[in-house]
Amino acid sequence: MNQPAIEWIRPASEEMISELVQPGRVHSRIYTDPGIFELEMDRIFGRTWLLIGHESEIPNPGDYKLRRMGKAPVIFVRGRDNTVRVLLNRCRHRGAQICEEETGNTRQFTCWFHGWSFENTGKLLGVTQPEGYGHALNDGSMDLTPTPRMDNYRGFIFASLSADGGSLKEELSLATSRIDILVDASPTGQLMLDAGAHKTSYRGNWKMVGMDGYHPNYLHSSVVAAWKRNEDSGVGSTHRDDPYSDGSLSRTRDLGYGHCQLDLLNHRLKHYERQCEFYRKFPGGDDYIAAMHRAHGDRATLLIAAGGDPHVGVFPNMQIINNHLRIINPISVDYTELLMIPVKIGGMSNELNAERLRQHESFYGPCGAGSPDDAEMFERVQVGMHAEVNPWIDLSRGIEREKVDTDGSIVGQITDEVTQRGQAKRWAQLMKGK
Ligand code: FES
Ligand SMILES: [Fe+2]
Repeated sequence: MNQPAIEWIRPASEEMISELVQPGRVHSRIYTDPGIFELEMDRIFGRTWLLIGHESEIPNPGDYKLRRMGKAPVIFVRGRDNTVRVLLNRCRHRGAQICEEETGNTRQFTCWFHGWSFENTGKLLGVTQPEGYGHALNDGSMDLTPTPRMDNYRGFIFASLSADGGSLKEELSLATSRIDILVDASPTGQLMLDAGAHKTSYRGNWKMVGMDGYHPNYLHSSVVAAWKRNEDSGVGSTHRDDPYSDGSLSRTRDLGYGHCQLDLLNHRLKHYERQCEFYRKFPGGDDYIAAMHRAHGDRATLLIAAGGDPHVGVFPNMQIINNHLRIINPISVDYTELLMIPVKIGGMSNELNAERLRQHESFYGPCGAGSPDDAEMFERVQVGMHAEVNPWIDLSRGIEREKVDTDGSIVGQITDEVTQRGQAKRWAQLMKGK
Protein backbone atom coordinates (compact mmCIF):
# COMPACT_ATOMS: atom_id res chain seq x y z
CA MET A 1 0.00 0.00 0.00
CA ASN A 2 1.38 3.39 -0.89
CA GLN A 3 2.14 5.64 2.04
CA PRO A 4 1.76 9.39 1.76
CA ALA A 5 4.96 11.39 1.87
CA ILE A 6 5.59 12.88 5.27
CA GLU A 7 6.64 16.46 5.70
CA TRP A 8 9.60 16.55 8.03
CA ILE A 9 11.05 19.62 9.61
CA ARG A 10 14.84 19.66 9.62
CA PRO A 11 16.74 18.92 11.77
CA ALA A 12 14.95 15.92 13.19
CA SER A 13 13.42 16.17 16.62
CA GLU A 14 13.41 13.26 19.05
CA GLU A 15 9.71 12.63 18.48
CA MET A 16 10.36 12.32 14.77
CA ILE A 17 13.17 9.83 15.35
CA SER A 18 10.76 7.47 17.05
CA GLU A 19 8.45 7.75 14.09
CA LEU A 20 11.21 6.93 11.64
CA VAL A 21 11.68 3.39 12.98
CA GLN A 22 8.49 1.41 13.20
CA PRO A 23 7.77 -2.31 13.55
CA GLY A 24 8.93 -3.91 10.31
CA ARG A 25 9.83 -0.72 8.50
CA VAL A 26 12.11 2.33 8.57
CA HIS A 27 11.83 5.68 6.86
CA SER A 28 14.38 6.25 4.09
CA ARG A 29 15.22 9.61 5.64
CA ILE A 30 17.44 7.83 8.19
CA TYR A 31 19.76 7.08 5.25
CA THR A 32 19.51 10.38 3.41
CA ASP A 33 19.14 13.26 5.85
CA PRO A 34 22.36 15.17 6.67
CA GLY A 35 20.76 16.45 9.90
CA ILE A 36 20.20 12.88 11.07
CA PHE A 37 23.78 12.03 10.17
CA GLU A 38 25.03 14.87 12.39
CA LEU A 39 22.89 13.58 15.24
CA GLU A 40 24.29 10.05 14.70
CA MET A 41 27.83 11.42 15.04
CA ASP A 42 26.89 12.74 18.48
CA ARG A 43 24.49 10.18 19.87
CA ILE A 44 25.95 7.00 18.38
CA PHE A 45 29.58 7.59 17.35
CA GLY A 46 30.11 10.16 20.12
CA ARG A 47 28.82 7.94 22.92
CA THR A 48 29.05 4.19 22.29
CA TRP A 49 32.06 1.88 22.37
CA LEU A 50 33.72 1.87 18.94
CA LEU A 51 36.16 -0.70 17.63
CA ILE A 52 39.59 0.85 17.09
CA GLY A 53 41.53 -2.24 16.04
CA HIS A 54 43.38 -5.30 17.29
CA GLU A 55 46.50 -5.02 19.41
CA SER A 56 48.44 -7.27 16.99
CA GLU A 57 48.20 -4.52 14.37
CA ILE A 58 50.70 -2.50 16.39
CA PRO A 59 53.04 -5.16 17.87
CA ASN A 60 56.14 -2.99 18.48
CA PRO A 61 56.71 0.18 20.52
CA GLY A 62 56.16 3.16 18.23
CA ASP A 63 53.82 1.28 15.84
CA TYR A 64 50.68 3.20 14.99
CA LYS A 65 47.62 3.21 12.72
CA LEU A 66 45.31 6.11 12.00
CA ARG A 67 41.67 5.38 12.75
CA ARG A 68 38.40 7.34 13.02
CA MET A 69 35.74 7.60 15.68
CA GLY A 70 32.86 9.14 13.77
CA LYS A 71 34.34 12.40 12.57
CA ALA A 72 37.17 12.40 15.08
CA PRO A 73 40.59 11.31 13.77
CA VAL A 74 42.51 9.20 16.29
CA ILE A 75 45.91 7.53 16.51
CA PHE A 76 45.98 3.89 17.63
CA VAL A 77 49.52 3.67 18.97
CA ARG A 78 51.80 1.54 21.09
CA GLY A 79 54.01 3.86 23.14
CA ARG A 80 57.66 3.37 24.00
CA ASP A 81 56.38 2.08 27.36
CA ASN A 82 54.67 -0.75 25.39
CA THR A 83 51.21 0.57 26.39
CA VAL A 84 48.49 0.70 23.73
CA ARG A 85 46.66 4.05 23.59
CA VAL A 86 44.02 5.77 21.51
CA LEU A 87 44.93 9.46 21.20
CA LEU A 88 43.02 12.21 19.47
CA ASN A 89 44.89 13.13 16.30
CA ARG A 90 44.85 16.84 17.06
CA CYS A 91 47.71 19.10 18.02
CA ARG A 92 47.21 20.67 21.43
CA HIS A 93 48.32 24.05 20.09
CA ARG A 94 45.84 25.09 17.44
CA GLY A 95 44.28 21.79 16.55
CA ALA A 96 46.08 20.63 13.39
CA GLN A 97 46.03 16.92 12.65
CA ILE A 98 49.34 15.78 14.13
CA CYS A 99 49.86 12.65 12.02
CA GLU A 100 48.76 12.05 8.42
CA GLU A 101 50.58 8.83 7.45
CA GLU A 102 48.05 6.02 7.84
CA THR A 103 50.48 3.56 9.32
CA GLY A 104 54.04 3.60 10.57
CA ASN A 105 56.47 3.48 13.45
CA THR A 106 57.66 6.63 15.15
CA ARG A 107 59.27 7.87 18.35
CA GLN A 108 57.42 11.15 18.13
CA PHE A 109 54.71 13.06 16.30
CA THR A 110 55.70 16.52 15.13
CA CYS A 111 53.15 19.09 14.06
CA TRP A 112 53.93 20.73 10.73
CA PHE A 113 52.21 24.00 11.65
CA HIS A 114 54.45 25.47 14.41
CA GLY A 115 56.67 22.50 15.20
CA TRP A 116 55.39 21.23 18.54
CA SER A 117 56.33 17.61 19.14
CA PHE A 118 54.81 14.80 21.18
CA GLU A 119 56.16 11.43 22.28
CA ASN A 120 54.50 8.26 21.01
CA THR A 121 52.93 8.06 24.49
CA GLY A 122 51.20 11.41 23.82
CA LYS A 123 53.45 13.36 26.21
CA LEU A 124 54.36 16.87 25.05
CA LEU A 125 58.04 16.70 24.12
CA GLY A 126 58.93 20.14 22.87
CA VAL A 127 57.50 23.56 22.07
CA THR A 128 59.28 25.78 19.58
CA GLN A 129 60.45 29.12 21.04
CA PRO A 130 59.05 28.23 24.48
CA GLU A 131 60.03 31.61 25.92
CA GLY A 132 56.88 33.02 24.32
CA TYR A 133 54.87 31.35 27.06
CA GLY A 134 55.08 32.73 30.57
CA HIS A 135 55.14 29.23 32.07
CA ALA A 136 56.31 25.76 31.12
CA LEU A 137 53.81 23.75 29.11
CA ASN A 138 55.31 20.31 29.78
CA ASP A 139 53.42 19.69 33.04
CA GLY A 140 51.13 17.14 31.37
CA SER A 141 48.35 19.63 30.70
CA MET A 142 49.19 19.93 26.99
CA ASP A 143 49.81 16.27 26.17
CA LEU A 144 47.87 14.67 23.32
CA THR A 145 44.38 13.86 24.54
CA PRO A 146 43.45 10.21 25.11
CA THR A 147 39.89 9.10 24.43
CA PRO A 148 37.82 9.37 27.62
CA ARG A 149 37.48 5.58 27.74
CA MET A 150 39.39 2.67 26.27
CA ASP A 151 39.10 -1.05 26.94
CA ASN A 152 40.29 -4.36 25.55
CA TYR A 153 38.28 -7.49 24.88
CA ARG A 154 40.62 -10.39 24.08
CA GLY A 155 42.97 -8.18 22.09
CA PHE A 156 40.29 -6.09 20.38
CA ILE A 157 40.68 -2.46 21.43
CA PHE A 158 37.58 -0.35 21.84
CA ALA A 159 37.27 3.30 22.83
CA SER A 160 34.52 5.76 23.56
CA LEU A 161 34.42 9.53 23.14
CA SER A 162 32.13 9.70 26.15
CA ALA A 163 33.31 9.34 29.74
CA ASP A 164 29.91 7.94 30.71
CA GLY A 165 28.05 4.80 29.74
CA GLY A 166 27.99 1.07 30.36
CA SER A 167 31.19 -0.96 30.54
CA LEU A 168 32.53 -2.58 27.37
CA LYS A 169 31.71 -6.08 28.63
CA GLU A 170 28.16 -5.01 29.45
CA GLU A 171 27.60 -3.34 26.09
CA LEU A 172 29.20 -6.12 24.04
CA SER A 173 26.79 -8.42 25.84
CA LEU A 174 26.15 -11.60 23.83
CA ALA A 175 28.62 -10.44 21.17
CA THR A 176 31.51 -11.51 23.43
CA SER A 177 30.77 -15.18 22.88
CA ARG A 178 30.77 -14.53 19.11
CA ILE A 179 34.11 -12.73 19.20
CA ASP A 180 35.36 -15.79 21.12
CA ILE A 181 34.59 -17.95 18.06
CA LEU A 182 37.36 -16.10 16.24
CA VAL A 183 39.88 -15.86 19.08
CA ASP A 184 39.39 -19.50 20.04
CA ALA A 185 39.97 -20.61 16.45
CA SER A 186 43.56 -20.38 17.60
CA PRO A 187 44.64 -23.11 20.01
CA THR A 188 46.86 -20.46 21.62
CA GLY A 189 44.30 -17.63 21.53
CA GLN A 190 46.63 -15.62 19.31
CA LEU A 191 45.52 -13.64 16.27
CA MET A 192 47.82 -11.81 13.85
CA LEU A 193 46.29 -8.87 12.00
CA ASP A 194 49.59 -8.07 10.37
CA ALA A 195 48.92 -8.86 6.72
CA GLY A 196 47.87 -5.32 5.84
CA ALA A 197 44.41 -4.00 5.21
CA HIS A 198 42.46 -2.75 2.27
CA LYS A 199 40.23 0.21 2.27
CA THR A 200 37.23 0.63 0.06
CA SER A 201 34.32 3.01 -0.04
CA TYR A 202 30.86 3.36 -1.48
CA ARG A 203 28.48 6.24 -2.11
CA GLY A 204 25.90 5.14 0.40
CA ASN A 205 24.95 5.36 4.05
CA TRP A 206 26.98 3.50 6.71
CA LYS A 207 23.96 1.56 8.04
CA MET A 208 23.64 -0.50 4.87
CA VAL A 209 26.67 -2.69 5.47
CA GLY A 210 26.27 -6.40 5.86
CA MET A 211 24.39 -8.88 8.02
CA ASP A 212 21.87 -9.77 5.35
CA GLY A 213 21.25 -13.49 4.88
CA TYR A 214 18.62 -12.96 2.19
CA HIS A 215 20.81 -11.67 -0.64
CA PRO A 216 23.72 -14.12 -1.21
CA ASN A 217 21.85 -16.52 -3.48
CA TYR A 218 20.67 -13.64 -5.66
CA LEU A 219 23.28 -10.89 -5.69
CA HIS A 220 26.16 -13.36 -5.46
CA SER A 221 24.57 -16.11 -7.55
CA SER A 222 27.51 -16.45 -9.93
CA VAL A 223 29.94 -16.94 -7.03
CA VAL A 224 27.66 -19.37 -5.27
CA ALA A 225 27.37 -21.38 -8.50
CA ALA A 226 31.16 -21.52 -8.79
CA TRP A 227 31.46 -22.67 -5.17
CA LYS A 228 28.96 -25.42 -5.76
CA ARG A 229 30.95 -26.64 -8.76
CA ASN A 230 34.18 -26.65 -6.79
CA GLU A 231 33.77 -27.99 -3.30
CA ASP A 232 37.50 -27.71 -2.76
CA SER A 233 37.28 -23.95 -2.74
CA GLY A 234 37.57 -23.79 1.03
CA VAL A 235 35.21 -21.02 2.03
CA GLY A 236 32.67 -22.55 -0.32
CA SER A 237 33.26 -26.13 0.68
CA THR A 238 29.87 -26.38 2.33
CA HIS A 239 27.89 -24.54 -0.31
CA ARG A 240 26.52 -27.56 -2.13
CA ASP A 241 24.27 -27.82 0.90
CA ASP A 242 23.01 -24.23 0.66
CA PRO A 243 23.62 -22.30 3.93
CA TYR A 244 21.42 -19.43 2.79
CA SER A 245 18.19 -21.33 2.26
CA ASP A 246 15.45 -21.34 4.85
CA GLY A 247 15.67 -25.13 4.93
CA SER A 248 19.23 -24.97 6.27
CA LEU A 249 20.37 -24.98 9.88
CA SER A 250 21.55 -21.37 9.51
CA ARG A 251 19.80 -18.63 11.47
CA THR A 252 19.68 -14.85 11.83
CA ARG A 253 20.05 -13.43 15.32
CA ASP A 254 19.49 -10.12 17.09
CA LEU A 255 21.97 -10.28 19.98
CA GLY A 256 20.80 -7.05 21.64
CA TYR A 257 22.53 -3.63 21.68
CA GLY A 258 22.28 -3.59 17.86
CA HIS A 259 24.69 -6.53 17.56
CA CYS A 260 23.54 -9.20 15.13
CA GLN A 261 24.68 -12.39 13.52
CA LEU A 262 24.23 -14.60 10.52
CA ASP A 263 24.59 -17.74 12.60
CA LEU A 264 26.01 -20.37 10.26
CA LEU A 265 27.46 -22.45 13.10
CA ASN A 266 25.09 -25.41 13.08
CA HIS A 267 25.24 -25.58 9.31
CA ARG A 268 29.02 -25.69 9.48
CA LEU A 269 29.04 -28.16 12.34
CA LYS A 270 27.14 -30.55 10.09
CA HIS A 271 30.09 -30.30 7.71
CA TYR A 272 32.84 -30.66 10.31
CA GLU A 273 34.45 -33.63 8.55
CA ARG A 274 34.56 -31.77 5.26
CA GLN A 275 36.25 -28.80 6.93
CA CYS A 276 38.87 -31.15 8.45
CA GLU A 277 39.49 -32.70 5.03
CA PHE A 278 40.07 -29.23 3.67
CA TYR A 279 42.59 -28.35 6.41
CA ARG A 280 44.41 -31.67 5.91
CA LYS A 281 45.19 -30.74 2.31
CA PHE A 282 47.67 -28.19 3.64
CA PRO A 283 50.90 -28.77 5.55
CA GLY A 284 50.16 -28.47 9.26
CA GLY A 285 46.44 -29.21 8.86
CA ASP A 286 46.54 -32.33 11.03
CA ASP A 287 48.64 -30.59 13.67
CA TYR A 288 46.18 -27.71 13.82
CA ILE A 289 43.19 -30.03 14.29
CA ALA A 290 44.99 -31.96 17.03
CA ALA A 291 46.09 -28.77 18.81
CA MET A 292 42.51 -27.45 18.74
CA HIS A 293 41.21 -30.64 20.36
CA ARG A 294 43.92 -30.46 23.04
CA ALA A 295 43.18 -26.79 23.77
CA HIS A 296 39.40 -26.77 23.61
CA GLY A 297 38.16 -30.29 24.39
CA ASP A 298 34.54 -30.84 23.39
CA ARG A 299 34.18 -27.32 22.04
CA ALA A 300 36.91 -27.92 19.44
CA THR A 301 34.56 -29.55 16.93
CA LEU A 302 32.36 -26.48 16.70
CA LEU A 303 35.34 -24.12 16.64
CA ILE A 304 37.09 -26.02 13.85
CA ALA A 305 33.88 -26.19 11.83
CA ALA A 306 33.31 -22.45 12.32
CA GLY A 307 36.75 -21.69 10.90
CA GLY A 308 37.02 -18.54 13.03
CA ASP A 309 33.95 -16.95 11.43
CA PRO A 310 31.18 -15.89 13.82
CA HIS A 311 29.70 -13.73 11.03
CA VAL A 312 28.82 -11.09 13.60
CA GLY A 313 28.13 -7.37 13.44
CA VAL A 314 29.01 -5.43 16.58
CA PHE A 315 27.09 -2.17 16.48
CA PRO A 316 27.94 0.36 15.26
CA ASN A 317 31.30 -0.05 13.47
CA MET A 318 32.66 -3.60 13.76
CA GLN A 319 32.08 -6.82 11.86
CA ILE A 320 33.86 -10.17 11.82
CA ILE A 321 32.98 -11.85 8.55
CA ASN A 322 34.65 -14.90 7.06
CA ASN A 323 38.39 -14.26 7.37
CA HIS A 324 38.48 -10.56 8.13
CA LEU A 325 37.79 -7.86 10.67
CA ARG A 326 35.85 -4.95 9.21
CA ILE A 327 35.68 -1.37 10.45
CA ILE A 328 32.88 0.84 9.16
CA ASN A 329 33.68 4.55 8.94
CA PRO A 330 30.79 6.88 8.15
CA ILE A 331 32.20 9.87 6.26
CA SER A 332 28.98 11.65 5.34
CA VAL A 333 25.33 10.74 5.08
CA ASP A 334 25.90 9.19 1.65
CA TYR A 335 29.55 8.16 1.76
CA THR A 336 31.10 5.32 3.75
CA GLU A 337 34.59 3.94 4.04
CA LEU A 338 35.28 0.30 4.91
CA LEU A 339 38.52 -1.04 6.26
CA MET A 340 38.98 -4.78 5.81
CA ILE A 341 41.76 -6.39 7.80
CA PRO A 342 42.46 -10.09 7.13
CA VAL A 343 43.05 -12.17 10.24
CA LYS A 344 45.77 -14.81 10.48
CA ILE A 345 45.34 -17.41 13.18
CA GLY A 346 48.07 -18.39 15.63
CA GLY A 347 48.68 -22.16 15.64
CA MET A 348 47.86 -22.47 11.94
CA SER A 349 50.72 -23.16 9.54
CA ASN A 350 51.91 -20.46 7.15
CA GLU A 351 50.27 -22.42 4.33
CA LEU A 352 46.88 -22.44 6.07
CA ASN A 353 47.11 -18.75 6.86
CA ALA A 354 48.14 -18.02 3.29
CA GLU A 355 45.02 -19.89 2.14
CA ARG A 356 42.93 -17.71 4.47
CA LEU A 357 44.33 -14.64 2.72
CA ARG A 358 43.62 -16.08 -0.75
CA GLN A 359 40.03 -16.88 0.29
CA HIS A 360 39.62 -13.35 1.59
CA GLU A 361 40.94 -11.75 -1.60
CA SER A 362 38.77 -13.92 -3.81
CA PHE A 363 35.53 -12.55 -2.39
CA TYR A 364 36.37 -9.27 -0.64
CA GLY A 365 39.50 -8.04 -2.41
CA PRO A 366 39.58 -5.13 -4.88
CA CYS A 367 39.10 -7.63 -7.70
CA GLY A 368 37.03 -9.96 -5.56
CA ALA A 369 33.97 -11.73 -6.85
CA GLY A 370 31.59 -10.61 -4.10
CA SER A 371 32.24 -7.41 -2.19
CA PRO A 372 32.16 -5.03 -5.18
CA ASP A 373 28.65 -6.29 -5.93
CA ASP A 374 27.56 -5.44 -2.38
CA ALA A 375 28.95 -1.91 -2.76
CA GLU A 376 27.11 -1.53 -6.07
CA MET A 377 23.83 -2.46 -4.39
CA PHE A 378 24.41 -0.02 -1.52
CA GLU A 379 24.89 2.75 -4.08
CA ARG A 380 21.72 1.77 -5.96
CA VAL A 381 19.78 1.78 -2.69
CA GLN A 382 21.12 5.23 -1.86
CA VAL A 383 19.94 6.52 -5.26
CA GLY A 384 16.58 4.75 -4.99
CA MET A 385 15.86 6.23 -1.58
CA HIS A 386 15.61 9.70 -3.04
CA ALA A 387 12.36 8.64 -4.70
CA GLU A 388 10.51 9.64 -1.56
CA VAL A 389 6.88 9.58 -2.62
CA ASN A 390 6.60 6.29 -0.77
CA PRO A 391 9.52 6.59 1.65
CA TRP A 392 9.24 3.42 3.74
CA ILE A 393 11.81 0.62 3.58
CA ASP A 394 10.38 -2.77 4.42
CA LEU A 395 12.20 -4.88 7.02
CA SER A 396 9.33 -7.17 7.93
CA ARG A 397 10.58 -10.47 6.51
CA GLY A 398 10.09 -13.18 9.14
CA ILE A 399 8.64 -10.82 11.74
CA GLU A 400 5.85 -13.27 12.49
CA ARG A 401 8.09 -16.30 12.88
CA GLU A 402 10.91 -14.86 15.01
CA LYS A 403 11.40 -16.28 18.51
CA VAL A 404 13.41 -15.59 21.64
CA ASP A 405 16.12 -18.24 22.01
CA THR A 406 17.41 -19.69 25.29
CA ASP A 407 20.36 -17.26 25.36
CA GLY A 408 17.99 -14.29 25.05
CA SER A 409 18.79 -13.55 21.41
CA ILE A 410 15.96 -13.13 18.92
CA VAL A 411 16.28 -15.78 16.26
CA GLY A 412 14.81 -16.23 12.80
CA GLN A 413 15.40 -18.13 9.57
CA ILE A 414 18.54 -17.20 7.68
CA THR A 415 16.69 -15.04 5.15
CA ASP A 416 14.73 -13.17 7.83
CA GLU A 417 15.35 -9.51 8.56
CA VAL A 418 15.85 -10.13 12.29
CA THR A 419 19.32 -8.58 12.00
CA GLN A 420 18.16 -5.36 10.33
CA ARG A 421 15.34 -4.96 12.85
CA GLY A 422 17.79 -5.41 15.73
CA GLN A 423 20.08 -2.71 14.34
CA ALA A 424 17.17 -0.33 13.70
CA LYS A 425 15.86 -0.83 17.22
CA ARG A 426 19.22 0.04 18.80
CA TRP A 427 19.65 2.96 16.40
CA ALA A 428 16.34 4.45 17.53
CA GLN A 429 17.16 3.96 21.23
CA LEU A 430 20.51 5.69 20.91
CA MET A 431 19.17 8.49 18.74
CA LYS A 432 16.58 9.23 21.40
CA GLY A 433 19.45 9.56 23.87
CA LYS A 434 18.73 6.32 25.73
S1 FES B 1 48.94 23.79 15.48
FE1 FES B 1 50.41 22.34 15.99
S2 FES B 1 52.16 23.47 16.53
FE2 FES B 1 50.65 24.96 16.11
FE1 LIG C 1 27.07 -9.68 0.01
